[in-house]
Amino acid sequence: MKLRYFSHSSFQITTDAGQSILIDPFLDDNPTATFSSSDVAADFIILTHAHGDHVGDAFKIAARTNALFICVNELANYCIGKGFLAHNMHIGGGHDFDFGRVKFTIAHHGSMTPDNTYAGEPAGVVLTIDGKSLYHTGDTGLFYDMKLIGEMTRLDYMLLPIGDNFTMGIGDAVKAVELADPGIAIPMHYNTFPVIQADPEEFKKQVEAIGKKVVVMGFGEEIVL
Ligand code: NI
Ligand code: MN
Repeated sequence: MKLRYFSHSSFQITTDAGQSILIDPFLDDNPTATFSSSDVAADFIILTHAHGDHVGDAFKIAARTNALFICVNELANYCIGKGFLAHNMHIGGGHDFDFGRVKFTIAHHGSMTPDNTYAGEPAGVVLTIDGKSLYHTGDTGLFYDMKLIGEMTRLDYMLLPIGDNFTMGIGDAVKAVELADPGIAIPMHYNTFPVIQADPEEFKKQVEAIGKKVVVMGFGEEIVL
């Protein structure tokens, strides 16, 4: 499978079978994104939580592509209420889709929609697709159960925020990598706005100092996993 980093917490997974899975697609109002919402294919859209920088262009994209939303129950119902298709899940639950498995994890954060609708708890996701596992933490502070998440699924990739202020900063993110112990850590949720400026190379240096690997993805870059 392939992984594209749009910037912020927005990613696209393209499976070996050619399906497109978007995570938190935030493009048109994202100053660091190099793609527009009209450019991207989507069969599935996973939302970690309802904040504007994560729901982003999801409804615009779903209206064009008829993609299926995958999110926690309350946020899924919000999507259904807007006329979209959704698969309702919740934290701790996993489900086998035709592209692979999705399991929701806890995240320490909030999840009100931009129009102030309660959207349930924020979440992270562990994806198992084409024989690889990937943990997108969503927006979260550091928590010790990241160790448990890494014990229950041997993680090939961990996508985690380093921007501080709203989420973990570099110091806590380094500890998160130590706890979850992924094969490769990929930093996200930084440099989108002035308040979340962070140097991914500094994160990389600190993670390498504990013997772990980091890949810093360029904004818009696609890599093969
Ligand atoms: Ni958020
Ligand atoms: Mn955010």
